[in-house]
Amino acid sequence: MNKARHIAIIMDGNGRWAEQREKKRVKGHEAGAKVVREITEYCSRDKDIERLTLYAFSTENWKRPRLEVEFLMKLLQKYLESELDNYIQNNIRFEPIGDIRAFSKSLQTTLKNVKEKTAHCDGLVQSLALNYGAHDEILRAVNKIKNCQNDITEAMLGNALDCKHSVDLLIRTGGDHRLSNFLLWQAAYAELFFSDTLWPDFTTNELGKIIKDFTKIERRFGGLK
Ligand code: IPE
Ligand code: IPE
Ligand code: MG
Repeated sequence: MNKARHIAIIMDGNGRWAEQREKKRVKGHEAGAKVVREITEYCSRDKDIERLTLYAFSTENWKRPRLEVEFLMKLLQKYLESELDNYIQNNIRFEPIGDIRAFSKSLQTTLKNVKEKTAHCDGLVQSLALNYGAHDEILRAVNKIKNCQNDITEAMLGNALDCKHSVDLLIRTGGDHRLSNFLLWQAAYAELFFSDTLWPDFTTNELGKIIKDFTKIERRFGGLK
């Protein structure tokens, strides 16, 4: 039976969820943040799951209206501050990925603080992908190692990435069937699941069903069974 050791989720559909309720898009992001908490706690209770990597803000999301971007930054700050005790109580280690140098100094400080204060936790690792894009991640990795004397190997590049762990199960909510620049290297052999559910409506029950279906898949990694 397969184990979903590393689950990655493209949390899409917040804006549409709000629009369907005639609310402002940002209300969808607020509702989405609650689901992040529920899904993270659920994964922290499943001993087979080691990592949960969540796409929260892409390198392309800066193109959105200034007010929406500002709201997302404030929401992230608030979420991390209120979540710190919860991370520690549930033994969850927080490890952001993406180029956080683009964020305000105070948000960077909060991110580093939560990372440091949870560094001793040895349960689930929750990675929020923030100002993350796979192209940007790969380029930064190549630039880190380009001056080495020998040819770059797969292991060298893999270890220079923000996320050094291959993905077993990749889920996208919100009905679209694309990767939107998420974990392109790490998802090389991930099993892909697409759900029409908008992220604020996504439940631990649906995640449980997806994981159950995942466990039955025969993964061959290019070999034969
Ligand atoms: C995903 O929801 C959250 C972020 C990208 C921050 P969207 O905001 O993309 O929601 P839709 O896709 O417009 O419904
Ligand atoms: C992907 O969603 C990014 C996040 C969930 C953070 P988008 O809504 O930005 O992706 P596209 O634009 O539909 O591809
Ligand atoms: Mg979207």
